[in-house]
Amino acid sequence: MDTEKSVIVIGVCGSVAAVEDVKLIRELKRQNFDVYVVMSKNAKKIIGKDALEWASEHNVTDKISGSVEHVYFCGVQGIAELLLICPCTANTISKIASGIDDTPVTTFATTALGSKKKIIIVPAMHISMYQNPFVAENVEKLKRNGIRFIENVKFKENKVKFPDIDEIVRVVKEEISKFKD
Ligand SMILES: Cc1cc2nc3c(=O)[nH]c(=O)nc-3n(C[C@H](O)[C@H](O)[C@H](O)COP(=O)(O)O)c2cc1C
Repeated sequence: MDTEKSVIVIGVCGSVAAVEDVKLIRELKRQNFDVYVVMSKNAKKIIGKDALEWASEHNVTDKISGSVEHVYFCGVQGIAELLLICPCTANTISKIASGIDDTPVTTFATTALGSKKKIIIVPAMHISMYQNPFVAENVEKLKRNGIRFIENVKFKENKVKFPDIDEIVRVVKEEISKFKD
């Protein structure tokens, strides 16, 4: 870990938009962030761990081990300043909102919420999933609990799309600067 840099953990879920994360991670690194990755089993069906290790230049967490990675990064004394769940599936949104913790990404989120760490969620899915009343209710529940969403809803395309990388980086910088104040 480079102690001069802010540490961000990216939680990667099983959406096709996960393929965008390689470019996102490289851009965050160019902006002087130290980026680590935690991924779900379903994310691994979409993007290989090797690509994310290459992009982040760190080992990727794809299971919680005896090293208790969730506490190391997102515990009260954890080194991460921010957990960016990007892309976030309908499944993971609803699990976090219900306190369910059965994937590496939800374990990081459970821990980060309990430690009052900043969390940003970038949802990506078909609009029918996002407009499911239970998913929509869970999005509101997470927002009420201080989780920031970057939502790129495209009604004409019936999708909640991956936003521009520059917009994600802008919001990350904004949230990190609040943390430093
Ligand atoms: C090719 C493919 C693309 C998918 N894209 C999405 C998506 O964009 N958004 C979403 O919410 N679920 C999507 N899913 C479904 C999720 O992968 C599924 O709900 C899974 O249980 C999510 O697990 P996770 O949240 O632990 O990653 C996709 C599945 C596949 C096979």
